[in-house]
Amino acid sequence: MTSTTSWGGITTCTELAVEEVGEEGPAYEDLTHVLKAAQRGKSLVRQILAFSRDKDQEKQPVQMKQLLKECSQLLKSSIPATIDVRLDLQAESGLVLADPTQIHQVIMNLCTNASHAVENQKGLIEITLDSVDLDRNVALIHPDLSPGRYSRLSVRDNGKGIPPDDMDRIFDPFFSTRKERGGTGLGLSMSHGIVKRHQGAITVASHPGRGTIFSVYLPCAHGTEPMKAGAEVPLERKGKERILLVDDDEQMIYGTEKMLCRMGYEVVAHTGSLAALKAVRTDPGGFDLVMTDHMMPYLNGMELANEIRALCPEMPIILYSGYQDGTVDITPGLLERHGILAFMRKPFNRAELAKTIRNVLVA
Ligand SMILES: Nc1ncnc2c1ncn2[C@@H]1O[C@H](COP(=O)(O)OP(=O)(O)OP(=O)(O)O)[C@@H](O)[C@H]1O
Ligand SMILES: [Mg+2]
Repeated sequence: MTSTTSWGGITTCTELAVEEVGEEGPAYEDLTHVLKAAQRGKSLVRQILAFSRDKDQEKQPVQMKQLLKECSQLLKSSIPATIDVRLDLQAESGLVLADPTQIHQVIMNLCTNASHAVENQKGLIEITLDSVDLDRNVALIHPDLSPGRYSRLSVRDNGKGIPPDDMDRIFDPFFSTRKERGGTGLGLSMSHGIVKRHQGAITVASHPGRGTIFSVYLPCAHGTEPMKAGAEVPLERKGKERILLVDDDEQMIYGTEKMLCRMGYEVVAHTGSLAALKAVRTDPGGFDLVMTDHMMPYLNGMELANEIRALCPEMPIILYSGYQDGTVDITPGLLERHGILAFMRKPFNRAELAKTIRNVLVA
């Protein structure tokens, strides 16, 4: 099984089977296990793909504060409500030159580890962001770092901590104390690789029984204009329309759906393109806009757009795609031929999302 698409297909089919069988059905429990395993397979392949991609990733000025806000939203939607997630993001924490998809992955890995460490207790995860000037003593923090200004993000938990004997091994590939619960042991080793390729470093301090703090240092970008602070969405960009959201990645659905609902839109979300198409076929006048991911099993985003436009020729459609899908050469001409009005790169923030939607709806 080599691609996220294949795993996505298994996930979608199993989801459908779980739905068909229902909670009372005899195979319900077995199927939910299959579903979890498929989701793990998908995330494992995704991690490996991200890791093995071209070393010259697409670096761009990244507003760390925005990225962390998005990650914390995703995190909150995927962990038990008993875990308290707190954010302390300094306004002037700056920009880093980075591949946002990869940094997103690092943050999510650290936060997921923290959530596992506090499992079954009243946990606390604190995510902080600031910037620090490191001088000649920088090597005391980490030998990989050279003097300069760094953006520092930290993930602190009050969980079980890391035993001193494990400390030297946690960044090793396949080292995991959670193997029986699906841990691959690749999260930290990949995060370490990604951060190193960004000329940064990860440090860790832990007190068994009291908690752990991981800090990621990334060099601040020079000569790049900070993006406008405050991604607050002006009122005129909010709306009440009904949006059909299609993505095979449940986490992406959680985050995007939440953002859209907060802007006032009504959202109907589908993790399968066929189910989404069925929804349009059943109620062709029921949606004001379609937002779809590109890389999906069965029908990809462009194919789905074709099918929807055949049913509803005037339907505005927004397509989005991640950097991992870099094999797809999405050109303006290609989008136009498929009747797609706008294209967004993942990850996108709330302001970008709000603006793109309003532009498309008034077009
Ligand atoms: N915040 C933390 N608190 C306690 N232990 C941790 C923490 N973060 C990592 N570890 C330890 O480091 C090990 C390796 O972490 P890593 O993220 O590489 O793999 P994993 O979390 O076990 O598997 P996966 O990332 O695939 O889910 C973990 O199994 C755990 O023992
Ligand atoms: Mg992990």
